[in-house]
Amino acid sequence: MDVASFNRQLQDLQDRAVASIAAADSPAALEAIESAMLGRKGELKGLLGGIGQLPAEDRPKVGALANPVRTAIEQALAERRVGLEADALDARLRAEAEDVTLPGRPRWRGSLHPLRETEREIARVFGQFGFVVVDSPEVESDELNFEALNIPADHPSRDLWDTIYVREPVGRESDERLLLRTHTSPGQIRAMRGSEPPIRVLTPGRCYRYEAVDASHGFEFFQIEGLMVDEGTTLAHLRGLLDAFAHALFGADRATRFRPGYYPFTEPSVAFDIGCVVCEGEGCPACKRSGWMTILGAGMVHPVVLRNGGIDPERYQGFAFGMGTDRIAMLRYAITDIRAFLADDMRFLERL
Ligand code: PHE
Repeated sequence: MDVASFNRQLQDLQDRAVASIAAADSPAALEAIESAMLGRKGELKGLLGGIGQLPAEDRPKVGALANPVRTAIEQALAERRVGLEADALDARLRAEAEDVTLPGRPRWRGSLHPLRETEREIARVFGQFGFVVVDSPEVESDELNFEALNIPADHPSRDLWDTIYVREPVGRESDERLLLRTHTSPGQIRAMRGSEPPIRVLTPGRCYRYEAVDASHGFEFFQIEGLMVDEGTTLAHLRGLLDAFAHALFGADRATRFRPGYYPFTEPSVAFDIGCVVCEGEGCPACKRSGWMTILGAGMVHPVVLRNGGIDPERYQGFAFGMGTDRIAMLRYAITDIRAFLADDMRFLERL
């Protein structure tokens, strides 16, 4: 043995070690290589054990040749360990990967009821003209539902507006007859008594009537009342406002008209019609072949009603209008049966 032959064997050891490190596929395999090559009973130790056969002056040379071999093998081990860890992480990430492009499980999502949505849309349009929404109770006094609106007890229109009486007066003072309101018009009196002109309010809400129920009549339904009171308010203001409303909800080209009407609490009174949304005015069963559909009642607030609201009719004028929220929603969504609104059928509610 001489230094050159040690050197060859050292190089050979290094080459084999590096090759098997490169081929190792687990940390355990690396450990086995490490102890086989560099361990206490490993090849390198074994090889260097033969150093004693060399002349004393050559031994340090072999030691100097062996050190870089050990370092090279240690470095190869360290690099391969890092490489295997990275591979293991890659494999784990691949195995645990989620496909985020998969559609999620659908969840129930609530939405506004079509009546509520319609109510808000109407309030939004009138809101642009300064009208604010105020609450008004469903259980109302006979006085506000009828008397103050110029509908005395013997008035024939009471027959159309029969309802459920919640409480009869029993003779005590401040005792009132209470009923389920038949329209939102008592909201007019409350607004007038509760504030000073100028007044611009909307009072939406549920109403009740003794009604033979069919596809277009419910005993329970919704209205939106509008009231404006100010100096110099005229029927022309009402007309312009309602035109803007009809155009906002049913299209800018929608034809509109006033027809004479009658309500005890307005004078003059009108019915407000729009061109039929089904046939565009041609004439069809939906508009009874007239080409027109009535969407609300309106008029100038009767002076008696202004006075009942605490307002001086010599100084102020007002107009009022009332529409069926159900009817407007039916026209917007092409709904043919008013009973669908309160039937709680999810298929109907989801369709809109
Ligand atoms: N209250 C009337 C109804 O229920 C509608 C209406 C309101 C008419 C305001 C004129 C003015 O039929």
